[in-house]
Amino acid sequence: MKSQLEKYTPQGPKGSWLSGNLMAYRKDPLQFLTDLQRDYGGVAKIRLGPQQMYVLYDSELLKELLITKQEHFVKLKAFQEARLFVGDGVATSTGEKHKRVRRLIQPHFTRAHIQTYAGQMADIVEGELNRWETGQRRSLTDDISNITFAIIAKTLFSLEGDEYARAIREPYETINRMCAERMRQLAAMPLFVPTAKNRAYKDSLQSLDRAVYAILKERKLNPAIGEGDLLSVLIAAKDENGRGMTDQELRDELMIMFIAGHETSANALSWAFSFILRQPEVEQKLYEEWDRVLQGARPTAENYMQLTYTQNVIWEAMRLRAPTFFTGRSAIRDVELGPLRVKKGQSVLFSPFAIHQNPAYFPDPQAFLPERFENDLLKRIPQFAYMPFGGGPRGCIGNHFAMLEMVIVLTMIGQRYRIRLTPGHPPIEMEPLLTLRPKNGIEIVVDRANG
Ligand code: HEM
Repeated sequence: MKSQLEKYTPQGPKGSWLSGNLMAYRKDPLQFLTDLQRDYGGVAKIRLGPQQMYVLYDSELLKELLITKQEHFVKLKAFQEARLFVGDGVATSTGEKHKRVRRLIQPHFTRAHIQTYAGQMADIVEGELNRWETGQRRSLTDDISNITFAIIAKTLFSLEGDEYARAIREPYETINRMCAERMRQLAAMPLFVPTAKNRAYKDSLQSLDRAVYAILKERKLNPAIGEGDLLSVLIAAKDENGRGMTDQELRDELMIMFIAGHETSANALSWAFSFILRQPEVEQKLYEEWDRVLQGARPTAENYMQLTYTQNVIWEAMRLRAPTFFTGRSAIRDVELGPLRVKKGQSVLFSPFAIHQNPAYFPDPQAFLPERFENDLLKRIPQFAYMPFGGGPRGCIGNHFAMLEMVIVLTMIGQRYRIRLTPGHPPIEMEPLLTLRPKNGIEIVVDRANG
């Protein structure tokens, strides 16, 4: 019997003979990835410089890529650039090494386990909100990043205080921007060439390293500080030969958790606010839900399940502004995906951002409508028609963590303060770096205290 998928004869936009579709991609990756779906449907064939790639939109093909044939692929080759700073941790490593670490850290991310973090998450939000005053103008995006960073630092590594955040987030800002820029270039300037940009990049990489190694050193000197937390589990772990992780390996795992764990959630939350602050009816429905379910109490792991509208607001924000706006895999051997022959070394991309705009599953796709997630939408549409957390064995390990955290942060800010965009706030544009963030941030005025 012929596969359903044989209907696809992959096609794609004509590009220039030299760089293929690279210019269109670099000019506006979000538009490029979205147009491909509109113009070519389930799969598109593109060329970025010398590299032919497929971009998948079809759920069946994605299932093969991410689940049934995932062992034939590794994380996207283009992410090699990111390895300069994230190293070879759980998000980038391959084969047995990846499996071992993923198995090791998995128990810290189960639905049951993350419930134990809820109280710490709420304490952190409360501490941060204690610094807010009515009438103040604030950068909501910075405040939210501070919160999500502090949550990872505390829940996974038992670290408290602003100094870690500063030491890691500041160099990371430079790295994020430069890494995204280099990933978009066909031939980035080798790092040993002493340009001002390269120097700034290398300095930031060194600062980041210093900060993470200092955390490790401190913990090894005082192992009692975070007994049972993720860091202690990583430090104590032994492989089948009884060998523990080297400092370099530990640094890589820590780094990936800090980066993967705080920026994506911060972006998703900021986007959620960007919609709420422009749609008073959404804000109103949130207040009604919080009043009804919580009656002034804090959100907890127990009442999280009842905060369904709040969850839907977050799902909808991640639909329209998927923080991981694209990712992909590279084949380690020749392999077939449906009708596609993927050659060893060839890359296959997918874009949650673009996939989420398919009108077949999301009518009026540009409208922000949290209600569309009601009545189990996710059970009624194909598995990979909505995929902010990716999927399969390399999907996001922090999905439950992130959802609980985002509901707690959103709810506690709204319970405590009315916030508004600053008068004359410019439109909030998208900036696709390593993740999709609001360009120039979101500036707010703390209007008044609630309750
Ligand atoms: C809104 C928040 C988040 C979003 C949208 C998100 C999204 C994603 C996506 C799409 C992937 C898969 C990438 C791929 O297939 O190439 C991923 C992987 C990953 N995420 Fe998240 N993530 C979020 C929060 C978190 C949090 C809070 C943590 C940790 C505390 C985390 C840790 C990771 C790790 C370690 C991986 C790599 C997993 C592996 O390769 O085995 N993420 N994330």
